[in-house]
Amino acid sequence: MTSTVDQRPQWLRQKEKAVARGVALRDEICIARAEGSLLWDIDGREYIDFASGMGVLNLGHGHPRVQAAMAAQMQKLVHSCFHSAANEPYIALAERLNTLAPIAGPAKSLLLSGGAEANENAIKLARAFTGRPAVLALEGGFHGRTFMALAMTSKRRPHKEGFGDLPGPVYHLSFPDNAQTLASLQAEIERRVPLNDLAAVIVEPVQGEGGIRALSEKTLRVFRALCDRHGIVFIADEIQTGLGRSGDLFAMQASGVCPDLITLGKSLGGGLPLAAVVGRAPVMDCVAEGALGNTFGGNPVACAAALSVLDEMEDRQPWLQARAIGEHCREVLLPWCHSDSAITSVRIRGAMIGLVFESAGHFKSGGELVAALRRRARESGVLTLVAGEHGEVLRLLPALTISEPLLKDGLQRIGDCLQMLLQEESVVCRA
Ligand SMILES: Cc1ncc(COP(=O)(O)O)c(C=O)c1O
Repeated sequence: MTSTVDQRPQWLRQKEKAVARGVALRDEICIARAEGSLLWDIDGREYIDFASGMGVLNLGHGHPRVQAAMAAQMQKLVHSCFHSAANEPYIALAERLNTLAPIAGPAKSLLLSGGAEANENAIKLARAFTGRPAVLALEGGFHGRTFMALAMTSKRRPHKEGFGDLPGPVYHLSFPDNAQTLASLQAEIERRVPLNDLAAVIVEPVQGEGGIRALSEKTLRVFRALCDRHGIVFIADEIQTGLGRSGDLFAMQASGVCPDLITLGKSLGGGLPLAAVVGRAPVMDCVAEGALGNTFGGNPVACAAALSVLDEMEDRQPWLQARAIGEHCREVLLPWCHSDSAITSVRIRGAMIGLVFESAGHFKSGGELVAALRRRARESGVLTLVAGEHGEVLRLLPALTISEPLLKDGLQRIGDCLQMLLQEESVVCRA
């Protein structure tokens, strides 16, 4: 009888024993520390970070201004629960978001702890404001994992499996192409749901988990017109696109379209859990006092961090760097995409980068190839992300502060890994 030796690192064995199985670990690394766009694992191996903690650290790890703001607030007040005793950073952050967000007319804000919770609250407000039940979301959209957010998230496996009935009614529309007009959109929606049943339309201006798919300016205008005509609340989920990531402070700004509500999360707290709903005052104020909130939402340390993130945004406009990152990636990556490579398209918006793969050699699908490529890239010291319905998109979300040499180095290593993988498969690739 042969006994097999468990080769996995000790921390991974501990994780499997201690942490619920549903909590996926997409890369088998355990991080000990990070700085800027570099990570070091517990064995001291260095990685270039193209994941940014799932698109959270837009200003990079350990940004000095953000760290200092957190430390200063820690000395003063760590928690108050706003419903019990207000704190100044909450109010200051609400004021700041109200002036910055592309909302038409006076705005108000609600602070929360995570993105899914922000989307849940946006829908509560939309339902209360309209007195209607239904929500329209898009195929490929990701809005979080709590019940209503999960209902609005389009991907079924593994997100929705085993959790029984989700709240509704929620309808998913196929991702609109640029030919969509107000009349065609109305007709398409009406086949599924009467327009006057709709409380909200929720979209990501650029789908992140969906594989870096951007809605065109024209499509956003069509959605705005539809919502205006039928009294529907238009919600922009900017949890991933917001705060510089897309090449503007808010991705909606590129289109000039103002939604009624914007949800924010991820990078808002500079690494601390914080989220927000910012919206038109009449919608934000449509429910009675006490109908919104939670224990930790708008934690003062997270709000102080967010204020420093916004200070940095306003002083240095890092969304311009996001555009430069996008341009650099376009120059490097477009030549990788040709008829005899496994890459079918390159999708870029600011510092949101997606490489779409198809099957090649023994890789039966683009998803299999991306999984293998991400593993190789990690072994060569680059941390990446996956996206797309079938995991067919290699997604890169570098910090907006990444240096050009590090960006180049990371892309070069991914290119080398791809070339090696495909050569082993005898598939021609000139990456
Ligand atoms: C667009 C979008 N909305 C909502 C969420 C959910 O945010 P959280 O994981 O903080 O609940 C995410 C997370 O990836 C997201 O990308």
